[in-house]
Amino acid sequence: MASITIQSVSKSFGAVSVLRDIDLSIADGEFVVLVGPSGCGKSTLLRMIAGLEDITGGEIRIDGRRVNEVAPKDRDIAMVFQSYALYPHMSVADNMSYSLRLRKTAKERIAEAVRAAAGKLGLDPLLERRPRALSGGQRQRVAMGRAIVRHPKAFLFDEPLSNLDARLREQMRAEIKRLHKAIGATSVYVTHDQIEAMTLADRIVAMHGGIIQQVGDPLDLYDRPANLFVAGFIGSPAMNFIDGACRGGAVEPHDGSRIPLPAGLKAAEGQAVTVGVRPEHVRIVGAAEPGSHTARVDLVEPTGFGTIVHVRLLGEDLKIYTLDRAAARVGGPLHIMLDGERLHVFDRETTQRLG
Ligand SMILES: Nc1ncnc2c1ncn2[C@@H]1O[C@H](COP(=O)(O)OP(=O)(O)OP(=O)(O)O)[C@@H](O)[C@H]1O
Ligand SMILES: [Mg+2]
Repeated sequence: MASITIQSVSKSFGAVSVLRDIDLSIADGEFVVLVGPSGCGKSTLLRMIAGLEDITGGEIRIDGRRVNEVAPKDRDIAMVFQSYALYPHMSVADNMSYSLRLRKTAKERIAEAVRAAAGKLGLDPLLERRPRALSGGQRQRVAMGRAIVRHPKAFLFDEPLSNLDARLREQMRAEIKRLHKAIGATSVYVTHDQIEAMTLADRIVAMHGGIIQQVGDPLDLYDRPANLFVAGFIGSPAMNFIDGACRGGAVEPHDGSRIPLPAGLKAAEGQAVTVGVRPEHVRIVGAAEPGSHTARVDLVEPTGFGTIVHVRLLGEDLKIYTLDRAAARVGGPLHIMLDGERLHVFDRETTQRLG
C-alpha cells in the first residue's frame, strides 16, 4: 500500500488546459473520491496517476517516489473501469489470474490469490464460468477481483458502477466499502454521483472546470460548502438559492422581505449575496408568523420516505423536503420559515462562502 502525492499538477491537450494547479495528498489506506460534473477532468487526473496520460506540469509521487516518467506497468497500481474489459474467452478464474500469469508467478501462489479474492467477493461458485454467463454485477466483481489478486499499492476506480441498475449499484457500493474496510488499500474513486461520493469517501475532492473546489470529509462538504458550486452539487434534492443584498444583519431579496443572517456572519452593507438553504432545512409552520413567508404550492413529489414540495417564493422554485406527507396540497398556501442558523451565505461575485 502507498500514499499518493499530487503536487501543482496541470494537464493540457494541445492548447486546451483541462486541469490546473492540482494539489492533493492521499494518505496510505485512504479512500478518496473525485466527484464533479462531466468534463471536469476526473478521469484525466486518475489516468495521470495510473500513467496512462502524460503529466504536463507538476509532479506525482507514489509512496514517495516520483512517477512522472515511470511506465504504467511499473507503478504497481490496479485500475477498475466502467467497462469491465474482461477477456470473453477466459473463465472467471483465468481472467482474475491473468496479470499474475503474465508475470510468471508460481502456480500455487496464483491459485491461493484467486481463492482469497473470490472468497472476499463471493465469486467461488462462478470461477469456471465465462464472462458472458455473468450478470453485470458479477462481471464488475470479477473486474475488482482481477485488481485485488495483484496486491497493488493502490486501486484506481473510474465510475465502476455506472453500467449497473440502481439497486445493484447500491449493493455494489456497500460491497466496495466493506472490501475497503477489509483490505484497507489506498483507493482513488471517480464518480459524478454525489451520493456515491458521500457514502464511500473518507475524503471527497469536489472538482469543477479542471480546478479542485473543495477537499474534505463528506459531511463537512455537506454542512459547510466552500462555494456556490459545491453547495449546489452536493445534496439531493439540491440546495435552494435566493439572491439578495445584505442590510442590517439580514438579507433583503428584491421583494422587500428580510431573511436573518446567521449570528456572527460579517457582511458589508449592500453586499450582493446568494443565500443557500437545504430543502430539509426549510421549516413549515402552521400559520403566518413574524418572519415567515407565505408561498403557493406548485408541485408535490412523494418519494415514499419524504415528500419534496415545490413552492414559488421570491420568483424562485424553492424545494422543501418534509416527512409530513399531509403538509402540502398543490395550489394551496404554505407558511415557511428560513432559520438564520441553517442558512449558507455566499458572496455573489466571488461565489465563496461567507463566515
Ligand atoms: N485525448 C483528449 N484530447 C483532447 N481533450 C481531451 C482528451 N481527453 C479528455 N479531453 C477533455 O478533457 C476534459 C476532461 O475530460 P475527462 O475525461 O477527464 O472528464 P471527466 O470529469 O472524467 O468527465 P466524465 O464524467 O464525462 O467522464 C474534457 O473537456 C475532455 O473533452
Ligand atoms: Mg470520466
